[in-house]
Amino acid sequence: MIDEDILSVRDLSIVYSSYGEEKNAVRNVSFDLRRGEILGIVGESGAGKSTVGKAILGLIEPPSYARGQITFENRNILEMSEYRLNKIRWNKITMIFQASMNSLNPVQSIESNFISVIKDKMKINDKIEWERLIDEALLSVSLPIEVKKKFPHQLSGGMKQRILISLAMITNPQVVIADEPTTALDVITEFYVLSVLKNKIRTSGASMIFITHDLPAIVFMADTLAVMRYGEIIEHGPVSNVLSKPQNDYTKKLVGAYYEVEL
Ligand SMILES: Nc1ncnc2c1ncn2[C@@H]1O[C@H](COP(=O)(O)OP(=O)(O)O)[C@@H](O)[C@H]1O
Ligand SMILES: [Mg+2]
Repeated sequence: MIDEDILSVRDLSIVYSSYGEEKNAVRNVSFDLRRGEILGIVGESGAGKSTVGKAILGLIEPPSYARGQITFENRNILEMSEYRLNKIRWNKITMIFQASMNSLNPVQSIESNFISVIKDKMKINDKIEWERLIDEALLSVSLPIEVKKKFPHQLSGGMKQRILISLAMITNPQVVIADEPTTALDVITEFYVLSVLKNKIRTSGASMIFITHDLPAIVFMADTLAVMRYGEIIEHGPVSNVLSKPQNDYTKKLVGAYYEVEL
């Protein structure tokens, strides 16, 4: 981890608005993400974790709104034009979703799924370069290159998830937001996929926000931990500090349950 902030979130509040009803999904959230850091965000369902991730990609759309600052490359993402956001999304800041929300196109081969991204996002038109990038991407997540000829339904959940990881990272992004990337997988596959993801992040030098409701996954992956509850960060620090000295009752319960399982 290098002592340099790549992303800085200050007083982020997000309100969802639909049919005249407003919901304060995120309240006064602040944190910094350093270059190379893996920040885990844990919290129960509805705590606002995904909403923070969406805001970082500039995906909160009117009538819903976000207030505060999300500073990336000296600019506030919340004030960026759609044109600039599209230059950043996928290329510099990318998101990996859980397998069930899988973004692979089911009627295209894995290779074609890759080519769409390489053409549209990376603007590369050289076919030899496509092949090289696809092979390199598959190998980097420990998949044989023959997989590129298959269709998504021919692959296991763990393989599809590794493909989503390599697709999300093919542009060499600086920030990766992984939103419950392994929730749909069994526990053995989950930890294998997490080790592949962690290795990919560490070797690329990217920073990651790793969102989960699963504390063991955080312990395995993250350098720092933020605990969210009812839209707020109630605890934040190096993983070992938060786990050894939890301050908040909710965090104490979470940590207690984790050690129960460990025994
Ligand atoms: N598009 C939306 N419109 C209205 N409310 C939403 C929307 N998305 C999420 N919410 C609400 O915002 C809160 C936070 O949701 P979310 O960020 O998805 O939580 P988490 O990812 O921690 O489970 C929840 O109460 C949820 O119901
Ligand atoms: Mg979520």
